[in-house]
Amino acid sequence: MRAVLLTASRRKSVRRVVEHAPISRQVVRRFVAGASIEDAVRATRGLVESGLWVSLDHLGEDTTEIAQAKATTEAYLTLLEQLVESGLATKTEVSVKLSAVGQALDRLLSVENASRICAAAKAAGTTVTVDMEDHTTTDSTLDIVRELRADFPSVGAVLQSYLHRTEADCQDFAGTGSRVRLCKGAYNEPESVAYQRREDVDDSYRRCLRVLLEGYGYPMIATHDPALVEAAESLIEEVGRADDTFEFQMLYGIRPDEQQRLARGGRTVRVYVPYGDEWYEYLMRRLAERPANVKFFLRALASRD
Ligand code: FDA
Repeated sequence: MRAVLLTASRRKSVRRVVEHAPISRQVVRRFVAGASIEDAVRATRGLVESGLWVSLDHLGEDTTEIAQAKATTEAYLTLLEQLVESGLATKTEVSVKLSAVGQALDRLLSVENASRICAAAKAAGTTVTVDMEDHTTTDSTLDIVRELRADFPSVGAVLQSYLHRTEADCQDFAGTGSRVRLCKGAYNEPESVAYQRREDVDDSYRRCLRVLLEGYGYPMIATHDPALVEAAESLIEEVGRADDTFEFQMLYGIRPDEQQRLARGGRTVRVYVPYGDEWYEYLMRRLAERPANVKFFLRALASRD
């Protein structure tokens, strides 16, 4: 089912059906903060007031037009201005997909656009994390992160434990000040590059986490998996990590009670909050992660008339 949904996430015909199914909006609301910047700022304020930190994602990916890449970049600049005006910028960073700012069109264009966002984030007193997409873009994305870090050292990278290569990438990215979000990975990847069995992905996550926590960077532990949160807590104690040298991260709408529990226990917890109209691919990845979500999806399809 996971593979079917992830394949569907790239199909235009399925996209049209899902986007227009009446119940889709209801499902979307669980995972997406709303369509506008105002919605994003409102959701951010609520989370920050409840003791959480935020990473905002202006939805959109796989951009095929230069104008669209530019519009996405401008949207991030406006968002960052609004965060400053609302006094929320210090606890809110932004997450950016390079494919949304033109990576597939022209590498240089995507670096220029991402640099503009990084400069605006720096001026706002915050920073950027560059999301990781499918494995065909891993090398290019990590190279661009290195390039951005020359001017903006706090730019975060994302590594996915389902890829065979990731333990070695963690070694490379565990240097002083290196912000690294470790997640399991959300795309449909072939067995030539990625672990297929859940246990193997989880074992890899534990190994990667050890490398990052024993290193000198700032690990961002992005998972809702209770076993991995527990493993992280043990490792944090074992290696003697100070409270302000790492954070937990979870997605908007997923395990909110656990987000609050960790924050109440003194952990920094950052919630990844997507907003905007281009929710289709994001939603399909969230549905694919959990069988229970699929029934909402099927209901959405069934009620499309
Ligand atoms: P797992 O999928 O095993 O879930 C553990 C438990 O969490 C489930 O049993 C359930 O209780 C709950 N849960 C998880 N997903 C759920 C869902 N969709 N709906 C309801 N409950 C759910 N991926 C990527 O490839 N590139 C990226 O840049 C990012 N960025 C990113 C940022 C942040 C902050 C997070 C938390 C995650 C990502 N991801 C990502 C997604 C990540 O790779 C992964 O697909 C999801 O986090 C799900 O994996 P878990 O580690 O939560 O474990």
